[in-house]
Amino acid sequence: MPRFTGILGKDKAFELYWRHVSSGRVEFYKSVGFDVVLGRREGVWVWSLDGRRLLDAHSNGGVYNLGHRHPEVVEALREALDELDIGNHHLVSEQRALLAEGLSRLMPGDLNRVTYSVSGGEAVDFAIKLARGYTGRKEIIYARGAYHGTTGLAIVAGEDYYKKPFEPLAPGFKSVPFGDADTIEAAVTRDTAAVLLETIPATLGMPMPPNDYYKRIREICDEKGCLLILDEIQTGLGRTGRLWGFEHYGVIPDIVVLGKGLSGGIYPISATVYRDELDDFMRRHPFTHISTFGGSELGCVVARKVLEITTRRGFLENVRIRGEELRRGLLRLVEEYPSLLEEVRGIGLFIGFKTRDEAYGPLLSLAAINSGLLAVYANNGRSVLQVLPPLIIDGGHVEYIIESLRKAVAWVYENRELASAVRSLIP
Ligand SMILES: Cc1ncc(COP(=O)(O)O)c(C=O)c1O
Repeated sequence: MPRFTGILGKDKAFELYWRHVSSGRVEFYKSVGFDVVLGRREGVWVWSLDGRRLLDAHSNGGVYNLGHRHPEVVEALREALDELDIGNHHLVSEQRALLAEGLSRLMPGDLNRVTYSVSGGEAVDFAIKLARGYTGRKEIIYARGAYHGTTGLAIVAGEDYYKKPFEPLAPGFKSVPFGDADTIEAAVTRDTAAVLLETIPATLGMPMPPNDYYKRIREICDEKGCLLILDEIQTGLGRTGRLWGFEHYGVIPDIVVLGKGLSGGIYPISATVYRDELDDFMRRHPFTHISTFGGSELGCVVARKVLEITTRRGFLENVRIRGEELRRGLLRLVEEYPSLLEEVRGIGLFIGFKTRDEAYGPLLSLAAINSGLLAVYANNGRSVLQVLPPLIIDGGHVEYIIESLRKAVAWVYENRELASAVRSLIP
């Protein structure tokens, strides 16, 4: 008998959540009929408390790259609990050293240094601090529509919706449109510390950068003496069919930020990985960036297991094969419904299903749930449905996703007059 799921039931969970956690979210979910409360979860599947089984093609943005409760990850944590705890972040740690060595081995060039955090936002904050500390410059250039988290510095590199109510914000940030290296060239000054980008911006709906985009940015940064920070929180750890998303573009960033999937969906941990040269600053300021729970020793054990599984023979090949199958299936839907669907974006299993209207993304999310699929629209590019299944899916799962989306698309097509109602509901 489950002891932690199904104990309240859906209605009671909604009521308590409304009363004690977030009245606003509950009211929004109720208003649009999105009534999922997560119960059992196993592999690529989750079950809502009312018994519906959904294939998780949201994966919490890549947290569930290995599916839910991957048995080897769960076992690694269970074993670690017999000996370890969080550790003491003031002290030198075997587990933190071992994970950093493992990450360095998997990174190209001299990306050999690691600072740990708990969340992605915290790890981005540290990347920005390091860039400012190392260069002695202030400006951070970021892409409009990006999402890097809601902590003090990361939030400034995001959209107004997330940051406007919390002004005054940290100064020194400048935005440019994503995908246009000329605007970056024009924006960089002698006071620019770093260009901060998601390799492919997920929350913006996965717009693909031009092929030479990162090469040009790398050149601009090298010429102007600023750093390139790539947020690989969603694109990292195999999601795109390569271990790191930036490998597709032939560049090596100065700082890489990892989060989400590093946790195996089991134990929160994030990491900021940076080049040897940048250690110059940290050597002089070794006690400036502190995080009690950052790089918990239990989390390090979990993350090492995640890296081991992700780098096994055939793992990335599966991502590429399934990604291609999925893309082909979704392209057929685009051909069948040209007035509703525009294109299939992305790479590997990092896929954006682009519709022709800002309301269709949310409508498709709702319809997908009713077809047995959890997939959510991109919040800063709502015409796009993000399709991010676990990287361990097989051919049968791909067919299931395509069939679920076929039903969902057909439903949206039949009910497209709901678009205006949806537009007025989404905050
Ligand atoms: C690309 C990217 N960067 C940063 C973050 C922030 O991570 P966290 O929610 O762990 O702070 C997210 C979260 O969705 C993200 O998608």
